Amino acid sequence: MGIQLEDTGVEDPTDSGGRSDIDRSSDFMRALSPPPPLPRSASAQNGSKLFISMGCAGCHTQSMTTDPNPASFIPASTGGVPISQTLNKTLANQTFHPYSDFLVHDMGSLVDGITSGTAGPTMMRTAPLWGLRAKSQFLHDGRAADIPSAIKLHDGQGKAAAKAFGALSAQQNSDLVNFLNTL
Ligand code: HEC
Repeated sequence: MGIQLEDTGVEDPTDSGGRSDIDRSSDFMRALSPPPPLPRSASAQNGSKLFISMGCAGCHTQSMTTDPNPASFIPASTGGVPISQTLNKTLANQTFHPYSDFLVHDMGSLVDGITSGTAGPTMMRTAPLWGLRAKSQFLHDGRAADIPSAIKLHDGQGKAAAKAFGALSAQQNSDLVNFLNTL
């Protein structure tokens, strides 16, 4: 650790093991735990059922399990060194709850105007919903100030979900939001 500017300028040299500061920083990020879910009230439990019946979970995937050998998907570090066996073991076979499929969907008027590879201007990656309660602005450009507004703005492939949300009773609406605030 410790970049010696006078020796290296802006370079991030690798150590004898082939790892540099950016590799250590990446390892740190990979090893972070997800936000812990909160206990669910009866209202939040009801919201959890609505989340599934309304099709939200079709894009906001609730559970995923990591590969037995995540190292095979993680590119070798700056020095061409794979992640450590310890980190590989920590990341392997872990079931986690991101509430995202990590795929891009055509979201119509939510358009960000960005083309990236084969993903056109209206194609957007499903935002993971874990830790949602810590946010104060929603959607890719923060255009929604609260959770209900973010849901109502779903368009394109997400339009049916937005419509289903609009049809909820006031009680169901707050059940769903209470659930989302536990993730
Ligand atoms: C067709 C896929 C799809 C469906 C179905 C869907 N979403 Fe989304 N959702 C997305 C995408 C893509 C984004 C990111 C949009 C953006 O960044 O502008 C998103 C963003 C969100 C956000 C904002 C997250 C943030 O961090 O800003 C919330 C809240 C949300 N969805 C809740 C829901 C709920 C509740 C439902 C069901 C009523 C639902 N979504 C159905 C794809 C979907």
